[in-house]
Order: sequence, then structure tokens, then C-alpha cells
Amino acid sequence: MQTELKEVLTEAAAIISACQNPNDIMNARAQFLGKKSFLSTLYSRMRELPAEERPAFGATINEARAEIENKLAAAEKAIKENAWKSQGPQLDLSLPGIHSERGALHPLTVVRRELESIFLSMGFEIAEGNDIEDEYHNFDALNTPPDHPSRNLADTFYLDNGMLLRTQTSTVQIRTMESHQPPIRIISPGRCYRNDKPDPSHSPVFTQVEALVVDRGISMSDLTDTLQNFATLMFGKGVRTRIRPHFFPFTEPSAEMDISCVVCKGKGCRMCKHSGWLEMGGAGMIDPNVLDIVGIDSELYTGYAFGLGIERIALLKYNIPDMRILFENDIRMLAQFTGASL
Ligand code: PHE
Repeated sequence: MQTELKEVLTEAAAIISACQNPNDIMNARAQFLGKKSFLSTLYSRMRELPAEERPAFGATINEARAEIENKLAAAEKAIKENAWKSQGPQLDLSLPGIHSERGALHPLTVVRRELESIFLSMGFEIAEGNDIEDEYHNFDALNTPPDHPSRNLADTFYLDNGMLLRTQTSTVQIRTMESHQPPIRIISPGRCYRNDKPDPSHSPVFTQVEALVVDRGISMSDLTDTLQNFATLMFGKGVRTRIRPHFFPFTEPSAEMDISCVVCKGKGCRMCKHSGWLEMGGAGMIDPNVLDIVGIDSELYTGYAFGLGIERIALLKYNIPDMRILFENDIRMLAQFTGASL
């Protein structure tokens, strides 16, 4: 029995020292200490021995068992340590963290949302229009004569199917009045397209917010009042507004809207070309012809409309010198205005 035990111990030492992973350890433990192992059978054989030999026999088996346990534990520890080391460099809490980039809204989106919430607070609803329009909604229904220069290829992008890219959000005035009777009180923000060469203040694609109010008794003073409220909410108290006579085919009378320069407070600077005023867009009272075209009784109702350029407002708000920056979308540039981190 002693020789057999010695052989088992030698075999166990060899197998345990060849263990490569926790699974090998598990198998070795089962083989040498498990129910069917040689050591376990020795325990049951103890009963066959005379009583006086049993303590010594028991002690021998226990020693053998402890020896195998110790070897297994040592091998298991070594395997774990090796695995840890082979995982490469260890956690170093002094290293800088991994930088994650933080996004932000595009300046035009920020301004558009701000405009929307200002007009919503004044009781306007938001109406949607399409970028691709027909000539009727972009020109004819807006009282624009067939020979009007804005219809030229040099100004308007026409598509092969006879449609066009809208040159103004005033198309949404027509679509709204076609489907709704007064009272109407909507704004419509959206992209517009004109065949313009890009320069610091022009872009072939730009964004307008159209406003349209039609009801009984609407007058020019409602228009100027709304303009002043908007300017105060957008640029703060102390901003003044004015309108100047202008011409649009679909409004009569027509006007251009200015606000006092928010950079120099009206004293005159580069931004306002030393005039003290900044142009915000076109406006006017809806021409009765347009009301007739869309089927609204021009004897009962009057209305005003205006169109604001969103880029202009974004350039002012963020002090951006060139409109093209808003469309080139170089995020290194945009991040400077919006607080995004690269
Ligand atoms: N649609 C005009 C433009 O793009 C602006 C405008 C809107 C004028 C509403 C009058 C009324 O220039």
C-alpha cells in the first residue's frame, strides 16, 4: 500500500505541475481527491484493517491528501498570477482618462428653436412646408407677374420635372390659407434656395421664418408691434425696430424691417455698415389679390406677413463674420460657437 501511495503522489505531482489552466486543476483535483480517486478508496479499505493499525493508516492518507491539496492550491495560484500578468499593462490610476467628445446643436438649429419658442409664446402655431414646390405656390399665387425677374433661371433653381426649389417660405402662406379659413396665426421656418454665389452674406441655401396672421381688423400696427416684441425677446430690452417702404408682389403696402444694431447699440459700426440699423427681412399687409386667389374674403379679412432671415440672426448672436461658416460645417469652427468639445 505504501508503494502504491508513493506512486500516486509522484503521479499527482507530475500532473499538477503540468496544469495550464483552472480547468486542468479541476480535473486533477477530481482525479486525485475525488470520490473515485485512489485516496478515497483507501479510506473505505481502512475498515478491513485491525483496529490498532487504523490511526497510523489514517494519518498517512491524511498527509497524502494534504500534500495533494497544497500542490493544487499552489498550482492554482500560479496559474491565476500568470493570467493576470499576460493581460498586459496593469491598471494605472494616474493615467489621464479617455476623452469623450461632446456634441452640441448647430448654431442655426439653436436660433431656429429660439425663434420658434418666442413665436409660440406669442400664440403662433408652426406650419410645415416643402422645399420642393411648384411655380404656382412659389410665384403665381403670390401675385408675382410672369415676367418678374425672380422667376429667371439666374435666380431660381428649376428641377427637370417642372418643379422648383422654393425661393422663399412665403409658399407656406399660400398653402396655409388654401386649407384654413381665418383666424390664422402661423410661423413657418424652413430652407430656401436661390441661385446666388456664396459670399460672406449670401448662400444658395438659407433659412427663413415666415409669419402669417389673417383675421378681422388686422392692421400694420399689429405687424410693427409683433416685430418689436420679437426683437425684444430675441435681443433684449432696448432694441428698437423700424420699417421702411419696400416692394413685394404679394404684400401691399410692403416694408423692410430693421432692428437697431445690437453690436454698437445704434451708434454705427462695421456690422451695421455705420448706419446703426440691421436688416431683418421683408414684411407687409397681404395683398387683397392674394386673399382672393386662395379663397379668403378680402372684404372681411386682412392680414400681415413677414419673413426673417435666420442666418442673419445667428451671425449676430454668435458674432460670426461669414455666413459660409454656417454651411461649410467644419466642426472645429462650429465648436467655438456652441460649446461642443472635440
Ligand atoms: N418672401 C420675402 C423674401 O423672401 C419676404 C417677405 C415675406 C416679404 C412676407 C413680405 C411678406 O424676400
